[in-house]
Amino acid sequence: MSKHTSIKRLTVPDIAARKGQEPVVVLTAYTAPMAGLLDPHCDVLLVGDSLGNVIYGFDTTLPVTLDMMIAHGAAVVRGSAHPCVIIDMPFRTVEESPAQAFRNAARVIAETGAAGVKIEGGVHMAETIAFLVARGIPVMGHVGLRPQSVNVMGGFKTQGRRKSEWQAIIADAEAVAAAGAFSMVLEGMAAPLADEITKKVPAVTIGIGASAQCDGQVLVTEDMLGFFPSAPKFVRRFAELGDAIDKAAAEYAEAVRSRHFPATEHTYTLRD
Ligand code: KIV
Repeated sequence: MSKHTSIKRLTVPDIAARKGQEPVVVLTAYTAPMAGLLDPHCDVLLVGDSLGNVIYGFDTTLPVTLDMMIAHGAAVVRGSAHPCVIIDMPFRTVEESPAQAFRNAARVIAETGAAGVKIEGGVHMAETIAFLVARGIPVMGHVGLRPQSVNVMGGFKTQGRRKSEWQAIIADAEAVAAAGAFSMVLEGMAAPLADEITKKVPAVTIGIGASAQCDGQVLVTEDMLGFFPSAPKFVRRFAELGDAIDKAAAEYAEAVRSRHFPATEHTYTLRD
């Protein structure tokens, strides 16, 4: 029997149709409870490989595995009903060949129920993106600052602040769009460059550290909730949950140490 819900989940074509329309709201999610909290507010939930930093405490996203992405991706699909869920393909799961990328992306889609995958890279990944799209796997691209290429880029550096750098980045974006990506993340680039790409490509552009004129915006949820003492310049902290958790944990510790917790109302009495 099929599962019926009253809420229709947004599809990849729904998101693709938002080019030049109302901005697409995207946040990252890695767990079912967070997906449930973000669900009513987001058009897309991105299970980013940033979970390597946020959840697992790695310095880069490079150690993230396909199994991690599948476990967290499936949790986000289970925890949400309305947003389109897209899952990042981690480093070393797509670069070898289009066939390798298809095999791994097909696992992600089949084992999570997500609508599509995200792949970092420009011109050099265009053939792979076209291969996946032709075989039924929607792809969100990711150009500009590409965290999986941190070692080639020599750090997490903003792209396109010199006009001489623009041509290569625009070529990346155009190649990704021509390959059939329905959308692409524009990360860490000069705002005028993001504007230019948004005008040039038919794919929906999702900015992070890019420009308010992109077709949508994404942030790492824990960054915008203020989980960490510091965040990149492009992050606006919409809450200070790190401080709230610190305060709550301190109050809990004090209550336990002073035996004020658990109180009578938190304990069970005998029935007879
Ligand atoms: O891994 C991630 O969360 C991302 C977004 C920040 C775009 O790629």
